[in-house]
Amino acid sequence: MTQAYAQIVGWGRYVPSRILTNHDLAQMVDTSDEWIRSRTGILERRMAGPKESSSTMGARAAMAALEVADLAPSRLDLIICATITPDYPLAATASLIQDAIGATHAGAFDLNAGCSSFVYAISVGAQYIASGAARNVLIVGADTISRILDWTDRATCVLFGDGAGAVVLRMSEHPTGVLHCVLGSDGSGAESLYIPAGGSRLPASAETIQAKQHFVKMDGHEVFRFAVTAMSQAATQAIAGAGLKPDDIDLFIPHQANVRIIQSAARALRLPMERVFVNVDRYGNTSSASVPLALCEAVEQGRLRQGDRLVMVGFGAGLTWAAAVVQWGVPASAARRPWWRTLVQKVWGQQAIVGSAIRRGRRRISAMRVPTVIPTDDDEEPSRKR
Ligand code: UT7
Repeated sequence: MTQAYAQIVGWGRYVPSRILTNHDLAQMVDTSDEWIRSRTGILERRMAGPKESSSTMGARAAMAALEVADLAPSRLDLIICATITPDYPLAATASLIQDAIGATHAGAFDLNAGCSSFVYAISVGAQYIASGAARNVLIVGADTISRILDWTDRATCVLFGDGAGAVVLRMSEHPTGVLHCVLGSDGSGAESLYIPAGGSRLPASAETIQAKQHFVKMDGHEVFRFAVTAMSQAATQAIAGAGLKPDDIDLFIPHQANVRIIQSAARALRLPMERVFVNVDRYGNTSSASVPLALCEAVEQGRLRQGDRLVMVGFGAGLTWAAAVVQWGVPASAARRPWWRTLVQKVWGQQAIVGSAIRRGRRRISAMRVPTVIPTDDDEEPSRKR
């Protein structure tokens, strides 16, 4: 059997239209544009509207990625949604996306590894393809961090933003695509970036809500220190694992949390900033969406050409870190979308909505038809009755 490689053949992104600037934030908490700009590099971020959530943004990014890949949703085998802000605590966001895009033959699950989730999901998706278990895998990174922030805590609320990005991985015989991945975790640092309540350890109660324990708590210094080391070490290991040197890397796509962290990691890797992609200034930290948003913009800006090698690196809550070395295998022309491809996507989108409505309707009708039977002793099969 020939070896199978996971090639990135589609990419797409979605960000909400509402922009929240540093000046807007200065009206809400005791902060300033100067402080946020100089300490983080962030100028503005996007905020989800009332009807938007991780699944709705993720589905928009997914449809855009499928359009570039020229792939029907029904041909997806697997959907992995990297998210730390699922629509519901129970019922995977990946399943909601699967329904919304009409991927009727795909398995679906969520993956939570903090802000490293997207790179973790790339690694998992690539393994499904390498093992032959899947041909077409959709990886979505979607987060609505604005819903889990304490908007009175200036130490955290200025850092984050909402958005989604997605890629389609396709099985290929060409030795390009995902070359090597490194995953890591150190749970002893879990409490330096976490949400204390709402899980099994401290279930939601009036007291936990009163104490604001459902919001992100972070030790910024601790996370900063960890991030610089984790990013550079994970990237170094992944590059070496792919049989390359840092000098062979054409583009470094780091998790967009803070431009100072990115610059320090690039220095440690001895990579000039021209080979580092940065868009934290316009989106802030979008958690699971940050790496795919950056990847999409890099492609749109012509920063990636066929044959280029890139390394995507994440770090975040857990604590976790992850890096993936990828050889870009598609020509720039793949991003050109002829009008008919957009039209076909629109039709698939409508089909998905109608298909979902029919399935929901059928489920309701069958629930009305089949009476709920609670078995009693009298229901025992006659043959088994004495
Ligand atoms: O996906 C992973 C997510 N997390 C991260 O990546 C976070 C990593 N950490 C960081 O990016 C940085 O530690 C921060 C940006 C969070 C903080 O930057 P810093 O340079 O480490 O600032 P600091 O925490 O040392 O705070 C310096 C001062 C403090 O005042 P005092 O004690 O010196 O008087 C803070 O109270 O800045 C104050 N401060 C603020 N001032 C204005 C903290 N937040 C703000 C704010 N506006 N938003």
